[in-house]
Amino acid sequence: MQQIRLGIAGLGTVACGVLEIIAQRQSLIAARGGVELVVTRVASRTPKPEIDLLGASFSTDLDSLLADDVDMVIELIGGEEAALDLINAAVRADKLVVTANKAVIAKHGNELQDLRNTIGFEAAVAGAIPIISSIERGLIANRFEHVMGIINGTCNYILTAMKEEGASFADALVRAQELGYAEADPTFDVEGIDAAHKLAILLALAFDQPFNFAQLHIEGIAQVTADDIRYADELGYRIKHLGIARQVDEGIEARVHPTLVPNSQLLAHVDGVMNAVLVKCDAAGDTLYSGPGAGGSATASAVLSDVVSLAQRKGSNMRIASAGAEVSSVPILPMAQVRSGNYLRIPTKDEPGVFARVAQALSQHGISIEAAIQKEPKAGQTTVAIVMLTQMSSEADIEAAMDEVRELPQVAGEIVRIRVEGFD
Ligand SMILES: NC(=O)c1ccc[n+]([C@@H]2O[C@H](COP(=O)([O-])OP(=O)(O)OC[C@H]3O[C@@H](n4cnc5c(N)ncnc54)[C@H](OP(=O)(O)O)[C@@H]3O)[C@@H](O)[C@H]2O)c1
Repeated sequence: MQQIRLGIAGLGTVACGVLEIIAQRQSLIAARGGVELVVTRVASRTPKPEIDLLGASFSTDLDSLLADDVDMVIELIGGEEAALDLINAAVRADKLVVTANKAVIAKHGNELQDLRNTIGFEAAVAGAIPIISSIERGLIANRFEHVMGIINGTCNYILTAMKEEGASFADALVRAQELGYAEADPTFDVEGIDAAHKLAILLALAFDQPFNFAQLHIEGIAQVTADDIRYADELGYRIKHLGIARQVDEGIEARVHPTLVPNSQLLAHVDGVMNAVLVKCDAAGDTLYSGPGAGGSATASAVLSDVVSLAQRKGSNMRIASAGAEVSSVPILPMAQVRSGNYLRIPTKDEPGVFARVAQALSQHGISIEAAIQKEPKAGQTTVAIVMLTQMSSEADIEAAMDEVRELPQVAGEIVRIRVEGFD
């Protein structure tokens, strides 16, 4: 039986999950995977004597993990700089590496030496869901049409709470923080950056691209209101924060933003902190993967899957091309060329003929209306919202049309636009 000596960096949520699973499942993993996992070293900022390190030695010096009695370094400290330094040092020292760090892979993946042969990063995307191994191995014989999904549990929790309780974004965020689903500084999650890190990884793997984080279009959920969620519901949609990578004739769409998803789609009903990824490819067709996107043991489950598969490949001369090494020449599509349907909420003065003026402005840019809601103003109100769904248009056309609508004297506030995903 092959023995793999592990050095774990960090003693937080995921590292503790890894230690606990190894403690409970060492012999099961050995029987199933043919690899005996032994934790020889742990290094982290703060000693935590209450945690069972399974006989490993502890140090506050991360470099201690580069010693000869470590075959594989598991990086679970998070952040960017120190984690990247450790990963690079471990690869240079001829160690295998497993990491759950999406920021490091999405932003520095192209520079990491022989990435796909030496570094496992299943846990970096969608927590427990084995989406990377599904794309890399399960669907290896396919060409991908799209990979899209709910890949940030915090955003999904907030949008679900807004839908179910009619809560505002701010109130739902406070609740998510109280429950530990959002960080004290929620910027990375609610502004879409965390989801974009994950999408950059999925895109690179599915579309044989380098890691293209800087080219992604990124929007968060702070502008979504309970009113929009209610209107979307009336129109038969849920608002979800989606990461979308799609191959079209002109290139690859790469975008992260709030999206209206038809109620008929399973993705519309993935609620709370759950994640889900929908993959469409030519041979396999549509497949949907759903599960917990975070949590100590859920993420540790993905970490250990990488540990075992890298260990199984250790010593074999099987090599795969690293992302960025042999890449497709298909470009990332500039956002202005991306096409989608649109939800528009336009606050207007309560005057006759307003709807017709808006429709005319849209039609001048070739945009037709698919559905609309216009309610009577409530008592005492002088403005009323016109809500409409448009048919597919390019970003450039809808932006130009909105500029024109904004100039109408009847428009009485900020226009809200949320893209609609048709799943065709
Ligand atoms: N938590 C999840 O559900 C989840 C899901 C998917 C991916 N991930 C990823 O997994 C990684 C770990 O996340 P986590 O939730 O376990 O984080 P965490 O609970 O904050 O734990 C991080 C650990 O690393 C230590 N640490 C941080 N910076 C360090 C440094 N420069 N040198 C030495 N030790 C350092 C911390 O020390 P202290 O104890 O002193 O703070 C802590 O023990 C991150 O990349 C995260 O994005 C997490």
